[in-house]
Amino acid sequence: MSIVIVGAGQAGLQIAESLRRGAYEGRLVLIGDESFPPYQRPPLSKKYLADQMADERLYFRPLEQLEKQQIEFRPQTRVTALDREAREVVLASGERLPYEGLALTTGTRVRPLPVPGADHPAVCYLRGLDDARRLRERLPAAARVLVVGGGFIGLEVAATARAAGKQVTVVEALDRLMARAVAPVVSDHFASLHRARGVEFRFGVGLASITAQADGSFTASLADGSSIQADLLVAGIGVLPNQELAVAAGLECRSGIVVDEYARTSDPRIVAAGDCTWHINRRFAAAHRLESVQNAVDQGKIAAASLLGHSVPYQDLPWFWSDQYDVKLQMVGLSQDHDAALVRGEPASGAFSVFYFKTGALVGVDSINRPAEHMLARKLMQTGAVVPPEAAADPAFDLKTCLPPA
Ligand code: NAI
Repeated sequence: MSIVIVGAGQAGLQIAESLRRGAYEGRLVLIGDESFPPYQRPPLSKKYLADQMADERLYFRPLEQLEKQQIEFRPQTRVTALDREAREVVLASGERLPYEGLALTTGTRVRPLPVPGADHPAVCYLRGLDDARRLRERLPAAARVLVVGGGFIGLEVAATARAAGKQVTVVEALDRLMARAVAPVVSDHFASLHRARGVEFRFGVGLASITAQADGSFTASLADGSSIQADLLVAGIGVLPNQELAVAAGLECRSGIVVDEYARTSDPRIVAAGDCTWHINRRFAAAHRLESVQNAVDQGKIAAASLLGHSVPYQDLPWFWSDQYDVKLQMVGLSQDHDAALVRGEPASGAFSVFYFKTGALVGVDSINRPAEHMLARKLMQTGAVVPPEAAADPAFDLKTCLPPA
């Protein structure tokens, strides 16, 4: 018996270890195209970028621990094709690895800046450890940092760069921050926070081109005719799912590799998990793709169960977080299609939550510097508690009383 996992990120490692925990004793190969052991990504835009964390601390496990679990880890190895008929994974070297079970945990890659001049050496991205190293090397010499994209990456990098004393401008195409994930009240709160720390924003305008200057800096021209001079550009304008292998192998893909609630692709021998999947979660009516640690871990467990022949449906509650300066944003649920957003607490105090409802039911909660409320929100959502919107908005109302009896 042999199981091959393509992609050695959080989801890939989770599947490998869950298989061993599930008493799988056959051959287990974990393939990654990077040169590092599986590592955590969240610190890359925070402590790692701030030079407060060594590479080794990013790694989930020392290599010996993978060996001990008899996980055959193959770094710097590219898979070029999946031969479903022969049940083999084809490597760039020409080597073929046979499989009875296959897992695709290929993740995402950054969306490249779609403007002339984007190949300027001052243009950086932040997805992998290589990107983070490059950015960390360049940051000290840059006085002016231009961040393109006011999403999670852009804002975490802006906070780190400001803390390092850089002049920071953020260009965001939409009219508010993190619009994909949070309500306007949260976007506004973070815009004020960054402004108070000296970040400048340009909203509702895109980048048009980048022109090199003789001193190594560049001029970024914006679509409204204005321009910004800077020494370093960090683009965080979203990611694209790595699904080309799956597409070429004839697996069903949409905006991600399509999997059912058991993390199975359209080929029952092949599962997929993490950022690359277009998946079903029993909690939600529609399929979707999620970019998060929680999804990589929880869906990875489901995928491993399927490879072991158990059918465990995916129904875990999504949660996310972002750290900017000393402010923690914690999110639970999926609030995108809410019809009411109620604020609990006073945003001006720096600590509050937003409770999102759809047709009267709680669909998500964002908490800003309220970790206990975030944990309670998770419990409320996990238990399907009925939370009256007016109770959520009333800070004097004890929301614990909405929990079902233990
Ligand atoms: P994102 O989707 O969070 O934000 C991208 C932002 O760029 C959006 O606000 C979008 O409107 C803007 N944008 C798009 N095109 C633009 C353009 N041409 N000019 C200006 N703005 C433009 O994606 P982001 O920040 O790149 O993050 C990438 C991935 O990393 C995501 O999967 C994200 O969830 C993950 N991540 C998660 C973190 C967390 O959960 N704390 C922290 C950092 C990253």
